[in-house]
Amino acid sequence: MSTRGARILQDLTLPEGAHYCDTLSEDHIAQAATQVHALWGAQHGPASYLGHVHEQIHRSDGALHYAGVIDEHGALIASHKRYEVDLASPAGDVSAMGIGAVFTPETHRGQGLAPSMLAEAMRRAKTRDVKLAILFSEIDARFYERLGFRVLPAHTFHASVADLPEDPDVELTPCDDFSLMLKLYDASFPDGSWYRKRTAGSFRYWAWRHGARARFLMAHRGEVVGYLSVALRAHALWVEDAVRVNTTRAVLWAALAQLARKAQRDQVAGWLRPDDAGDPFVEQNRSLCVPMARGLGAANENLVHSLVKSGVYFSALDSF
Ligand SMILES: CC(C)(COP(=O)(O)OP(=O)(O)OC[C@H]1O[C@@H](n2cnc3c(N)ncnc32)[C@H](O)[C@@H]1OP(=O)(O)O)[C@@H](O)C(=O)NCCC(=O)NCCS
Repeated sequence: MSTRGARILQDLTLPEGAHYCDTLSEDHIAQAATQVHALWGAQHGPASYLGHVHEQIHRSDGALHYAGVIDEHGALIASHKRYEVDLASPAGDVSAMGIGAVFTPETHRGQGLAPSMLAEAMRRAKTRDVKLAILFSEIDARFYERLGFRVLPAHTFHASVADLPEDPDVELTPCDDFSLMLKLYDASFPDGSWYRKRTAGSFRYWAWRHGARARFLMAHRGEVVGYLSVALRAHALWVEDAVRVNTTRAVLWAALAQLARKAQRDQVAGWLRPDDAGDPFVEQNRSLCVPMARGLGAANENLVHSLVKSGVYFSALDSF
């Protein structure tokens, strides 16, 4: 796959007269917002969606850029979001380009525009010494596999609250202290793990971006041992981000069950880390929001092998 991907990447070129822009102007951002509004912004009116797009860019503190392809008449004919992302890896920090919101207007589909756009985005990222491209696919992953991306292992877990333990020594308190949660997050990964790096600011941004408002510090017998970020779905308490440090997974399960019972949900579900799941949790392969990665240049293909082999945990707050 990697050889074929690399070959395709080189061959993909934009249509004559069109050019790629890695940071769109206000006018082109407005065109992008209009084009994707029905698909990704329908809960907003068109004007308020453009406001929301601007707010995303502003709050990201330079991490989010809109990029796209502009034709010879100045019209935007394909677009994507481009994020600057750092990953921790066994060999040190790795800079990555996060790709989101890949879109070609219906009138221009089927001409290879999105693949050419992403090929150009990756060529440019490579010249900035970015080593990986990562994305979360909402469509058939083969579309991105043809561009040399590989699917990374990712699961969703669910369990009945009735099957989870109770523990009167677990205490949950609402928490908005991103610096403290960041310390717990960093401490929760064994040395040599792959994970997405955060700062207190990026943590706050992604919690806002995902509408994650319910965050709790988790204590056991008076000691802080982690935090939970959860959302309520129809029948389930949905785990967006769960971190435990120096405690057992039974404590985490009891904390989740406590929240679920309070919210009158009979299931706990979401993106738990594999180490935090296990019986009675049932594992399912994810069909949506599937993480994928591609090394930028042959020298970085080994990074993708390492990612696939050692596994990488992305919480719901890490997706884009
Ligand atoms: C997916 C999309 C970006 C492709 O853009 P494009 O410029 O038309 O790219 P291409 O010309 O290569 O597209 C044609 C290919 O895309 C494939 N494609 C389109 N929608 C797809 C989907 N939902 N799942 C998988 N493949 C898809 C088509 O099957 C076609 O493959 P083929 O060449 O083997 O026939 C475009 O269809 C689009 O904007 N869709 C809506 C937004 C979206 O879902 N984006 C992806 C978010 S992860």
